[in-house]
Amino acid sequence: MQADLFFRANSRRPGGFAMRALSFIGLLTLGSAALAAPTWDDVGPLFASRCTLCHNGDGAPNGLRLGSYAAALKGGVNGPVFKPGTSAGSELIRRLKGESQPRMPMTGPPFLSDAEIALVAAWIDGGALPSKADAKSDKTAAAAPTAAPVAARKPGDPVTWTEVEPILLARCAKCHSENGIMGAPPEGFIVRSHAQTLAAGERVRVIPRQPQASELLRRVRGLSRPRMPFDGPPWLSETEIDLIEQWISDGARDRAGKPAPIPVGASVRFRGILTGPEEIDGMPFDGGGARIDKAPRVGSEAELRGSVQSDGSIRATRLRRR
Ligand code: HEC
Ligand code: HEC
Repeated sequence: MQADLFFRANSRRPGGFAMRALSFIGLLTLGSAALAAPTWDDVGPLFASRCTLCHNGDGAPNGLRLGSYAAALKGGVNGPVFKPGTSAGSELIRRLKGESQPRMPMTGPPFLSDAEIALVAAWIDGGALPSKADAKSDKTAAAAPTAAPVAARKPGDPVTWTEVEPILLARCAKCHSENGIMGAPPEGFIVRSHAQTLAAGERVRVIPRQPQASELLRRVRGLSRPRMPFDGPPWLSETEIDLIEQWISDGARDRAGKPAPIPVGASVRFRGILTGPEEIDGMPFDGGGARIDKAPRVGSEAELRGSVQSDGSIRATRLRRR
């Protein structure tokens, strides 16, 4: 049964929920008297696909876990997020509709469709029934994925966005989104998609094939401060940090495996320790034409601003003691 639920949660194509929710609404419109109230079998897979990336395990936001029926009913540190029988005014529905901010899922837009929200509301109004096959126990708990299952990569195969995305969504997107818990994304940096993570708006944070010059990696390692995630510890695990490094070394590839181009001319900014006259945290840079402020010394903290050259290396435009 566990395997079955897991399989269904992961095999449904996008739109599957919407279709199910729509047919549910359709039945309502037909006024079918024999209509059965939705059960956990209907909403559990929806939560598994859109919510448990964050709402699962020890780090679940506000302690709210949505990976099992029992946990969803129990709620988080603020108590239950709904009362079976009354969806109106419940925190769960308010979050889904955006009446309570930040709106859920935190990774939205896209948020849930009206039909999907109606399905969740109908589940609550119908008494928040458990799974039909598993009416009393909490056996589905283990079935919820904590993050997208990492596809087996053959040794030597390059790392792609598919493996990095779940880490960034689970640990970074709550702030680095249009709709984050800090309001506007800090420094305008958004990690919700491959394109946004690589975007060279004001500054670039990932330079393909140049992990040492990629502020994203420097921040999760704690070379640039404040270390990320900002609400850590816990920091990312060594395995996760190594994976991100490998992804950048392999060319910061997208989901399809296509390496990203070098953002030639884009601006960069690092804060770190000057480990040589033209080296910051072990990364060499071209300091030739840089403006020097406050006489930064080797061994002390400095801020480097510069731009990306065609080979991905950094030419400093300004070096300042911090
Ligand atoms: C990217 C991570 C992420 C995803 C995905 C996500 N959430 Fe959240 N959720 C959070 C964070 C962070 C908070 C705490 C925000 C705050 O400060 O109120 C939160 C808070 C909540 C709360 C308020 C809990 C309380 O007790 O105050 C509810 C309810 C909720 N989420 C439901 C959902 C639902 C339902 C989904 C899926 C449709 C979802 N979330 C998807 C990160 C996420
Ligand atoms: C709780 C909110 C929060 C979380 C979670 C978070 N960040 Fe941040 N992030 C911030 C804030 C605030 C700043 C600005 C800090 C500063 O430089 O003064 C920032 C800055 C950054 C910067 C520097 C951007 C620039 O151009 O200067 C990077 C890169 C970054 N974060 C990456 C990450 C990564 C990767 C994660 C997840 C592993 C993460 N952040 C998680 C709040 C957060």
